[in-house]
Amino acid sequence: MTALQNDVFLRALLREPVPYTPIWMMRQAGRYLPEYCETRRRAGNFMGLCTNPTLATEVTLQPLERFPLDAAILFSDILTVPDAMGLGLYFAEGEGPKFERPLTDEASILALAAPDPTDRLRYVLDAVSSIRQALNGRVPLIGFSGSPWTLACYMVEGGSSADFRKVKALMYDRPDLMHHILQVTTRAVIDYLNAQIEAGAQAVMIFDTWGGALSHAAYETFSLAYMQEIVSQLTREREGRRVPSIVFTKNGGQWLEKIADIGSDAVGLDWTTDIGDARRRVGARVALQGNFDPNALFANPAAIEAEAARILAAYGHGSGHVFNLGHGISQFTPPEHAGVLVEAVHRLSRQYHAA
Ligand code: CP3
Repeated sequence: MTALQNDVFLRALLREPVPYTPIWMMRQAGRYLPEYCETRRRAGNFMGLCTNPTLATEVTLQPLERFPLDAAILFSDILTVPDAMGLGLYFAEGEGPKFERPLTDEASILALAAPDPTDRLRYVLDAVSSIRQALNGRVPLIGFSGSPWTLACYMVEGGSSADFRKVKALMYDRPDLMHHILQVTTRAVIDYLNAQIEAGAQAVMIFDTWGGALSHAAYETFSLAYMQEIVSQLTREREGRRVPSIVFTKNGGQWLEKIADIGSDAVGLDWTTDIGDARRRVGARVALQGNFDPNALFANPAAIEAEAARILAAYGHGSGHVFNLGHGISQFTPPEHAGVLVEAVHRLSRQYHAA
């Protein structure tokens, strides 16, 4: 494997000195790029893209051809895991993800089993190897998974939900069944992430998109505890380097200290928390990733630059910050505006790092 030419992202995650603040963007390969839409058309649909390692490699690299990003992220989806557990994922045009066989009764819940990733998720591992080869050491590759709680939301609701009424009813009525789903899914996620690391992922991120929808008491029991279990069982080193982990609970700002304590290397922040306050709260325990409001990318270039400058100043001097959006980039974002952000972060962050 070719030596890594740009390890600024990996170094920032470990709070080691860096010359500038690295940046990547959640959903950086996506519908805001016309070239993505073109490849997706050739694939037929979104899952066709995910299951074809050649096309998944092509779209993973597209944002890197446009912008000098400091990391690539595997092109896939968090819902490939429940699909491999037999739930039958499909994307209804314009309606988002859906499952043919959601978890609606006790029998289907008790029948749930963790899939062997080298079998049912082979296409993802093949994409990881193929992307690593195509990157040829340009930047590190991030692997990812959903958190058990976030995956369970989709598995029980059968798709996206505005209020999570089914999964919450299950959690309060039958905590035993809820914990069963979360335990099996935790096993699946551990095996899946370690298989991605084995295939070449150089950092991993856990997306807990819906953790922030839980009550204060339920968050620790039904989401954070399972992410802690995952982090404790991840492969720590590969190719002679630490494989850093990032945990991101959207709307989890009030629980930052607890999240920082579960053993991951970095914590993701949405845009609702001040990153300077967040840094004071977590201290030297973890690096922070975030926290630009993705919809600020609809403003004019001067405003985008000013907002990037504000976040960099709020974090302040020293390493430990990976610049990112606080959530996925909108499909309506003008691509040039994403370019303005990347350039501004690289240029404006040098003053915060010793030469
Ligand atoms: O960041 C990247 O570039 C890597 C790829 C990636 C995708 N999904 C591709 C995708 C990642 C990391 C995800 C994670 C994901 N998927 C999450 C967690 C992060 C988040 O956004 O909250 C969740 C909740 C999902 C589930 C999911 N997948 C939803 C709700 C949707 C529909 C939303 C939409 O934008 O239409 C998807 C589809 C999806 N996953 C798309 C992409 C690029 C759009 C599908 C398309 O091309 O039609």
